[in-house]
Amino acid sequence: MHNKLVEFNVHPLLRKLLAHHEFSQSEETHIALEVLRQRLPQDEFSISQWAVGLDYYRERIAALNVAPKVCVDYGCGCGNWSIAAARIFDEVIGIDKNVERIVIAQEIAQRLNIHNVTFLHGNSIRMFPQLEKLSVSCVLAFNVLPFSLERLKILDSLCTLLKNNGRMLISFNEVGVLPYYFLSGLYSLDLNRLKEFALMIGYNFFHFMVRRTNQCEKTYGWINTNSFMQILRERKLIPVWCNWDSDIGESYKPLFPLRYLGFPFFQEVLVEKRKSC
Ligand SMILES: C[S@@+](CC[C@H](N)C(=O)[O-])C[C@H]1O[C@@H](n2cnc3c(N)ncnc32)[C@H](O)[C@@H]1O
Repeated sequence: MHNKLVEFNVHPLLRKLLAHHEFSQSEETHIALEVLRQRLPQDEFSISQWAVGLDYYRERIAALNVAPKVCVDYGCGCGNWSIAAARIFDEVIGIDKNVERIVIAQEIAQRLNIHNVTFLHGNSIRMFPQLEKLSVSCVLAFNVLPFSLERLKILDSLCTLLKNNGRMLISFNEVGVLPYYFLSGLYSLDLNRLKEFALMIGYNFFHFMVRRTNQCEKTYGWINTNSFMQILRERKLIPVWCNWDSDIGESYKPLFPLRYLGFPFFQEVLVEKRKSC
């Protein structure tokens, strides 16, 4: 994986984070990467996620153990999780606020002849009242919540959408994303990356008082695991599995490492909705 991503200009530190994956050689990965190479070659994150291959995402989704009805993939990016979910669920809805990524996801689905996935452009569930009628048994909120200051509102609307006993897979960056952003910015002298790093620090201090008073972690860019677990419990979203727990099963392969330079880095938690939130 590490060496193969060189030809796509994926940042060396991002390649290193994914070094424990094989580079997928499947026809569908080849098609998706071709679309990305032609239409959005600068989107190294999406390229890296597609290079992991749909079989990885399919295995992860199958392990969630949910009724294969409707799956909502919030913050779907270029559609890697949504398109993998299409083989498992009757219907999949992918939503993202980045219109370029939504267009790419649509094109890849079309090229792969997948017809039970709908990609919607938007930054809130409230924009799509038609979703309320669906029987949503699974929500994927993978690597999206830290990117929005509205993360609790997003979590609440996803929770409302999910039917009782449905499951939601949530993943988020922890504080280890700070040294990662700093080092990757420094490594390639990328001023934008360093600016994002400074913003993360800035938001942290700006929201310090708010966090102290209402227990909400509002820092842009990462989420504190302990306060987030509390937030989940308050919403009757009961954790059934998390990757920082030692008992995670031998076949589990994380998308990103759990720790970076000794700091918690990438957390994943599967929650079950026990009653209306
Ligand atoms: C790090 S990417 C993850 C993409 C995908 N879930 C994956 O794991 O490959 C985060 C995605 O969330 C989207 N996003 C961020 N804030 C959002 C919001 N408020 N509403 C919808 N999408 C959002 C971004 O546009 C981006 O595509």
